Amino acid sequence: AGRQTRFRELAQAVCSRLCREFPHYSWVGVYLVEGDRLKLWAWDGPEPTQHVEIPLNAGLCGWAASTGQVANVPDVRKDPRYLQCFVSCRSEIVVPIARDGKVYGEIDIDSDRLAAFSADDEQFLKAVCAILAERAAADAEVRAVGGRTT
Ligand code: SME
Repeated sequence: AGRQTRFRELAQAVCSRLCREFPHYSWVGVYLVEGDRLKLWAWDGPEPTQHVEIPLNAGLCGWAASTGQVANVPDVRKDPRYLQCFVSCRSEIVVPIARDGKVYGEIDIDSDRLAAFSADDEQFLKAVCAILAERAAADAEVRAVGGRTT
């Protein structure tokens, strides 16, 4: 039995797989909390984001990481928390990667469709994040930098 895949590699595989398999997931990223900000650890999509670091007090991403709650926004143009990234983005979901009172980070997904994310997406992504949280908690690199106690 080999060593477990590092969190960073797992996060990259998850982003690429989600982006490829779900046409309404236009851009998929994993951010981790490092101190007072989020840092982009993995992503997949048609283009890179300029937001490789996001303060915890900014954007839907900061909101989800600081509250530990899911942000599921059907129309980003109508949400004052939204921090613009891609002009084509219409809806966005951010799901915390959290476990045992600790928020490690989140999955952030942008969609070019309005109201792209259903209750099924939300449930599915929570299950994916539960696996990522388990692996974050077990990863030395993540433990060294990451997480925020709620
Ligand atoms: N829209 C996000 C910023 C990150 S990009 O979507 C990749 C937000 O409101 O936090």
